[in-house]
Amino acid sequence: YGAPGTKQERTFIAIKPDGVQRGLVSEIIGRFEKKGYKLVGMKMINPTKAQAEEHYADLSSKPFFNGLVKYFTSGAVVCLVFEGKGVIKGGRVLVGATNPSDANPGSIRGDFCVDISRNLIHGSDGPESAKAEISMWFKDSEITQWNFITPVYE
Ligand code: TYD
Repeated sequence: YGAPGTKQERTFIAIKPDGVQRGLVSEIIGRFEKKGYKLVGMKMINPTKAQAEEHYADLSSKPFFNGLVKYFTSGAVVCLVFEGKGVIKGGRVLVGATNPSDANPGSIRGDFCVDISRNLIHGSDGPESAKAEISMWFKDSEITQWNFITPVYE
């Protein structure tokens, strides 16, 4: 999950179809940018059923799985890779708790949604899932290499 040749970690973030349809793409990307995370991967896709099932494979036995796959494949999704110090855990803080009822105000889910089955955004929950999700959704060549002119971190 690390950026090649650096100590920086990376996470996978997806803006789910409701986030796109409600016009929250710039709001969500802006929060990650303003926090100080570096945007290194970005694309908009319509996930296939197979992709949604693979992404959520660990939840396949859950009663909400079919609904989750249907939701995730219901429209365009914005796939993002952010890089930075502590970005996996810090990204989860920006995203907020899974159930929007438990998500703190100031978090994306806390500020913009009410329903666990329409919770706007996905963020990797640990180093293993970040690595697996980035490689599932992005080819290596789709992750960009760029540097801050004035480094904001080493
Ligand atoms: P999970 O990986 O547990 O949460 P998170 O997205 O915060 O990492 O669950 C994946 C998605 O499944 C979650 O974002 C919303 C959906 N979900 C439900 O619809 N109902 C539920 O009871 C749970 C636990 C999750």
